Amino acid sequence: MSNEPTGAELGKKMAAELALQRVQSGMTLGLGSGSTADWFVRCLAGRVADGLKITCVATSKKTETHALECGIAIHTLDDVGRLDLTVDGADEIDPALNLIKGGGGCHLIEKIVAAASDDFIVIADDRKLVPNLGAFPLPIEVAPYGWQTTALMIEDLLRNSDVDGKEGGRRTINSNPFETDERNYILDYHLGRIGDAVGLATALNTIPGVVENGLFINMASRAMIGSADGTAREVLPE
Ligand code: A5P
Repeated sequence: MSNEPTGAELGKKMAAELALQRVQSGMTLGLGSGSTADWFVRCLAGRVADGLKITCVATSKKTETHALECGIAIHTLDDVGRLDLTVDGADEIDPALNLIKGGGGCHLIEKIVAAASDDFIVIADDRKLVPNLGAFPLPIEVAPYGWQTTALMIEDLLRNSDVDGKEGGRRTINSNPFETDERNYILDYHLGRIGDAVGLATALNTIPGVVENGLFINMASRAMIGSADGTAREVLPE
């Protein structure tokens, strides 16, 4: 049986391969997290095995482990400083290439690494393209201390925001609170539609206790979008 991916997995791989064309020897690279970013790591590993010289930073412990297993050395962001390029997945992508990220709970480090990069390319299969952000629950990383009070402050803000819903709750895994790599909690909010993603992203981060929200505004320069038919295309912000 062939190990070649099909369907959405093929789309993810094609997007990863298109982004790989932007990688040159000598670059410092941020490696994203999630199943699409994992494809990028696997494709990149092939080039590294063929002699490509790059210096990589991972956006999660999972990605670090995966990269090391694939033969890619990982450095800390503080050792590397600025990065030339970060390639990462997303949960939703709107026409301006604003994103919801954090479905895997890694958006704090993903945002720090993306912000430290001269270029940020988002890779995804075409199911992630949406006309408006908000159907995917918005992940908000919060400090464990007083998290329920922080949640009340978030809900107050949402009541006065241009969104269709405000239901949310703490993410769990096997009935236990999900903890991020930084030992924080994630609150997921079902907003339905986010009318003003720029305003909401800014306002959320003014709440004490909010560590980082999953809205990535004006960060991606381009999106590499793969499809189940084995094609991929580059999308620029509208
Ligand atoms: C990790 O926290 C996320 O930001 C991921 O990048 C995002 O959830 C996309 O993941 P998939 O590529 O697995 O859909």
